[in-house]
Amino acid sequence: MSHDFFMGKVFFMLYGKTISACLHGVEGRLIEVEVDLSNGLPQVNIVGLPDNAVKESIERVRAAIKNCGFSFPLQRITINMAPADIRKEGSAFDLAIALGILATSGQLPPGTLDDTLVIGELSLDGSIRPVPGVLSMMEAAVKGGLSRVIVPAGNAEEAGWISGCTVQAVSHLAEWSRTPPDSPALAVTGTLVPQASASMPAQAAYTDDYADVRGQSHVKRALMISAAGMHNLMLIGPPGTGKTMLAKRLPSILPSMDERESLEVTKIYSVSGKFADRSRLVRERPFRMPHHTISAAGLVGGGGVPKPGEISLAHRGVLFLDELPEFSRAALEVLRQPMEDRFVTIGRAKAVYQFPAHFLLVASMNPCPCGSGHWGIEADGGDISCVCSPLKVMQYRSRISGPLLDRMDLHVEVPRVPYSQLACQEPPLSSLTMRETVERTHQLQLERYRQSGLMFNSELNGRLLREHCQLDAAASSLLEKSFQALGMSVRSHDRILKIARTIADMEGMRDIAGHHVAEALQYRCLDKRQTLRSLPPA
Ligand SMILES: Nc1ncnc2c1ncn2[C@@H]1O[C@H](COP(=O)(O)OP(=O)(O)O)[C@@H](O)[C@H]1O
Ligand SMILES: [Mg+2]
Repeated sequence: MSHDFFMGKVFFMLYGKTISACLHGVEGRLIEVEVDLSNGLPQVNIVGLPDNAVKESIERVRAAIKNCGFSFPLQRITINMAPADIRKEGSAFDLAIALGILATSGQLPPGTLDDTLVIGELSLDGSIRPVPGVLSMMEAAVKGGLSRVIVPAGNAEEAGWISGCTVQAVSHLAEWSRTPPDSPALAVTGTLVPQASASMPAQAAYTDDYADVRGQSHVKRALMISAAGMHNLMLIGPPGTGKTMLAKRLPSILPSMDERESLEVTKIYSVSGKFADRSRLVRERPFRMPHHTISAAGLVGGGGVPKPGEISLAHRGVLFLDELPEFSRAALEVLRQPMEDRFVTIGRAKAVYQFPAHFLLVASMNPCPCGSGHWGIEADGGDISCVCSPLKVMQYRSRISGPLLDRMDLHVEVPRVPYSQLACQEPPLSSLTMRETVERTHQLQLERYRQSGLMFNSELNGRLLREHCQLDAAASSLLEKSFQALGMSVRSHDRILKIARTIADMEGMRDIAGHHVAEALQYRCLDKRQTLRSLPPA
């Protein structure tokens, strides 16, 4: 007897394992939480690249275990989080650590945690708080072949959007019964979460409608082209002509999102903890309008363990930069790479993170610093005096770098509305009518690009661009002439082709005709020579 006791004292050693998950960018990664109890001075060590929030976790776990009537083992506890090369941050491991300790110390029935992903933050009294990024973690669980996921009740709806494993929602550590080791395996009385329905809801109602905007029909046309083919758009005009008003109404005409896009966007919002409504997938394309004081990190994402920035929050939707020249040069420069790659890469000492950033950039600017408009574009031929010297105008415009301008597909002038149009009785073009054209054009592109995996004309490049942009004779001769006359770059040339493709699609035409190219050319007023021409004589 005394011998047994002696053996127990010296060699008593227990080991257990639970599975939890953390975020890497917007993706979830499964993490093994190993718990070892051995005799020695009571102390807890967490190893495996945990950050401070994870180290603090043990204090929450200790209090929660005690306050729910379990006992916290007075032993030497080692917690290892594997794989060790992933930086663990946040408080989503609390529950996995607590259950790991309870199971290993024999306070839960054996097998309770087999094949189960456990996520949740604990408060001191044992209640379980929701955590960000559950959607991505669920995906990782399904990919990893796990059969069950335990999530905080506050994340239950979100977890129901992913099919492939049983989801159990829990709200308190006390829901685990303190049963003797030989009782049935289901130790927790959480609620089973039903699979959420995947059906698309009806189009949301928008309070801001293009019917509010009088005149500016050519701008509305350009906005339709932009939305239909996801072409970047620049609005240029004097203050008060409705640039902000026009851009803000874009969400009312954007093409619908499919299930895959919807899930991508929802994941980003889940990871950033920026859900407007947790009860459903994000179904509308995002519209982000950051203030011009935003930093470069705010735009592309940042932080010790980076979080998505505005460009990723605008993924599959619109990033609107109102008054573009007011943004800091540094902020604008960081946009260049993601605009080409459609994702952003953020490097940190221990890891490289990638966030999706496939967005439509819409920007607005005044033609000159005083804003009165030296653009030669007064619709009614009016002459408005400007106090800016040509040099000042040049300096103002050079705040936006050439490479960024080069990435704007459509440049559209927004002139003052003549009184006759303001007073006109005819109802202005409404969002509903515009959206019908956009949606039709969107479907046509989906059909055409089914094989190649693209969605929008703006994504065409290289071989696919030549293949899908067949010009008729008139169109190709017009494009050739303008290429020479305007001294176009190859990039500008390709952009014109893509825009012409979208315009032809809006008419349902297979080949691009002369008038499609002609219209596309009109949307390039900032191209070098034209800009110089429209400057006033010094
Ligand atoms: N074309 C228009 N039709 C109706 N209202 C307009 C129009 N243009 C401007 N407005 C009115 O003027 C206000 C200012 O427009 P805004 O979009 O802020 O101009 P900008 O951004 O070009 O300076 C709008 O809120 C709107 O009430
Ligand atoms: Mg404005």
